[in-house]
Amino acid sequence: MSQRPGNNQDVTPSEQSALQEALQAAAATWPHPNPRVGAVVLSTAGTVVGTGVHKGPGATHAEVEAIEAAGEAAFGGTLVVTLEPCNHHGRTPPCTEAIHQSGIRRVVIGALDPDERVSGSGIERLRTLGIDVHDAIAPQLVQEADPAYFHHRRSGRARVTLKLAATLDGQVAAADGSSQWITGPEARADVHRIRSESDGVAVGAGTARTDNPKLTVRLDAYEGPQPRPVLIAGREVIPPDLALFERSPLVYSPHPGPWPDSTELVEVASSDGRVDLSAVIRDLPNRGVLELLVEGGPTLAGALSSAGLVDRYVLYLGARLGQGGGRSMFDGVFATLADARSVEIDSVVQLGPDLRVEFRPAIGGRQPEAAA
Ligand SMILES: NC(=O)c1ccc[n+]([C@@H]2O[C@H](COP(=O)([O-])OP(=O)(O)OC[C@H]3O[C@@H](n4cnc5c(N)ncnc54)[C@H](OP(=O)(O)O)[C@@H]3O)[C@@H](O)[C@H]2O)c1
Repeated sequence: MSQRPGNNQDVTPSEQSALQEALQAAAATWPHPNPRVGAVVLSTAGTVVGTGVHKGPGATHAEVEAIEAAGEAAFGGTLVVTLEPCNHHGRTPPCTEAIHQSGIRRVVIGALDPDERVSGSGIERLRTLGIDVHDAIAPQLVQEADPAYFHHRRSGRARVTLKLAATLDGQVAAADGSSQWITGPEARADVHRIRSESDGVAVGAGTARTDNPKLTVRLDAYEGPQPRPVLIAGREVIPPDLALFERSPLVYSPHPGPWPDSTELVEVASSDGRVDLSAVIRDLPNRGVLELLVEGGPTLAGALSSAGLVDRYVLYLGARLGQGGGRSMFDGVFATLADARSVEIDSVVQLGPDLRVEFRPAIGGRQPEAAA
């Protein structure tokens, strides 16, 4: 079901601020592959009497947590929730029943749930139960708070952000393979911030071997979970003593190994004997990775980009020049101008001495995967 534009008429100021509170509470959760949801119960007097969030698969839903926190004060009150309540039996009973049984009279919803098991049926059920429902008051805000969830439920794929750091003349590594560090501390801290928003961070076999990255979030005072390392393995053997094997990586490989015991192996060979990247992007959500950050080298970057599998590009341009042929951002051949992909630039920001450019494939631009 598509989102209607936000409709804020008839929503009280206390309901508006309850939605902000619910969004804020949900922002501190990592529930993927489930959605990030926050809920607030307002008493008949309009004061906050209960707050809840959903912490992930198998955990109580945000609505139920907020209703339980409110207790009897929920009776006759209003539930403000960021995402449409569910109406199906999953690992927990339907939220619509819990809302009905609590005696709540009104439900204000930030956005409709794009999951086809919910998608409008939660709202319909609440209305059938005689509850006053005000839906989709802030679809954009809710979507921006959990873009990977909306992306996955609509496309069946993980949301892929490709990060590259290059010199101003477009080199991601020197001819000897060295690339640390092209950018300064401000840009590198920004990469760690994006890692902290990701469920998984992927590199290809080449980067794993050359850079031996840890792929962890290293930010002062960071207390959230670490993203899972994801390795796109190649045809050749990878040394088992690499740092990422210390963190139970997810390894997509065209062959069975052997791999260190800590590895979760998924074999997905394509016809050229490499990993089938399209299959990887569809498989990742089954393993809890909806938001993937790719920090691979030019081979993986070129393969993902030319297959139309990148949803967001974050390019850091270091304040230096390579002045010659090292490694350019994407492997492959740029044969003629007509092959260039159009992009839409979302932002250009200066970070210390460097630049950060964020962009995405232009709508209607050439996209092989989407067209397939
Ligand atoms: N500046 C930056 O942002 C940045 C970031 C990362 C890395 N780097 C630099 O880039 C260099 C490494 O680049 P790289 O291109 O060798 O590493 P890569 O892109 O991380 O890894 C490429 C390898 O992944 C394997 N692979 C498996 N399936 C694949 C598929 N479908 N498509 C593409 N690759 C697949 C292949 O291994 P096989 O060939 O064995 O089959 C391939 O050679 C290093 O110098 C590193 O320092 C720079």
